[in-house]
Amino acid sequence: MSTTTTIQEAAEATNESFTVEDLVDFSGRQYGDWRDEFHKNGCVVLKNVISPERAKYYCDKQIEWLKKFELGFDEHDESTWTAEHLPAVSKRANMEERSMYFAYGSTHEKMAWEARTEPAVIEIFEKLWETKELLCSFDGMNISLPRRKDLNWSPWPHCDQNPNRKGMQAVQGLLNFAPNGPKDGGLMLMKGSAKLFDEFFAQKREAYDHEDAPPPELKYMDLFLFHQKDLKWFQDRECELVKINMEPGDFVLWDSRTMHYACLPEGDQIRHVQYICMTPRRFATEKALELKKICFENYMGTTHWPHCNIRPAVEKPMRNGEVCPKYRTEPFERPELTNTVLKLAGVKPY
Ligand SMILES: [Fe+2]
Repeated sequence: MSTTTTIQEAAEATNESFTVEDLVDFSGRQYGDWRDEFHKNGCVVLKNVISPERAKYYCDKQIEWLKKFELGFDEHDESTWTAEHLPAVSKRANMEERSMYFAYGSTHEKMAWEARTEPAVIEIFEKLWETKELLCSFDGMNISLPRRKDLNWSPWPHCDQNPNRKGMQAVQGLLNFAPNGPKDGGLMLMKGSAKLFDEFFAQKREAYDHEDAPPPELKYMDLFLFHQKDLKWFQDRECELVKINMEPGDFVLWDSRTMHYACLPEGDQIRHVQYICMTPRRFATEKALELKKICFENYMGTTHWPHCNIRPAVEKPMRNGEVCPKYRTEPFERPELTNTVLKLAGVKPY
């Protein structure tokens, strides 16, 4: 049996973990810290989670990673800031994902696991979920080069939770490494929209058929694309569309029911981000854990969801209609297999 078959079979088997019930009920809790803001707005920015020096280390590592492909990328020469000189992204990538890397074993690069295991990052999710037994997604990093001439941009408002799932079932996060101001692109969030999720989906809603939308046969379980008019629906109910500005070392956390999208940078600053999501291990079925193990051992990426909707990134990176000649199945720098890494990967029990 080929590895691919095994992975596809394992992925199919995890569909049974599709739960529509609330997994945790946080209503009525008061914490006296950032969690109150998070539960009120569905999002929160946490300042100085890692030091500026540490953030700079990750920026440098990401640039170094782009250069390892030897495609002529030069961070000082804007004419090389095009797809030709960069590792390939998914051909179905939406705007956010066109600067997000999942292939080439990148989701398991040492730097990605170092970011996931920053003690202050883990602590955020421990406090949020009130458990130390967590799983981490094998999410991508985002390196957005400003003023890309080869990309057209159109907003892609969406949420990453299936309308049938109730309550807060996943929380997404990103650790920001470079200065990220109003002109530097990045994350747009509809503050307050997570709370209105059930109300919005109480009536039948058609998803927007965006040209970048994933084909229906992919059956993305946890994605809903909004129409422009839906933005107004939320704004009429006191939600506010905000651009999240961040300094190096800041972390933003948002409930996966939150409407959000990414906008492209227009300033001079390269955006450097690692997406990091953690949920309680108890949310995962045995089959989901098996699939995570396969992904981990084969250096494959997943979605933002740590415990289900894992969807191994099996697609090979393409260049000019063929598999990218730089295709590789493992990271340039393998992660150190510490106990923390193995537990967050779901490979080792707590
Ligand atoms: Fe998203």
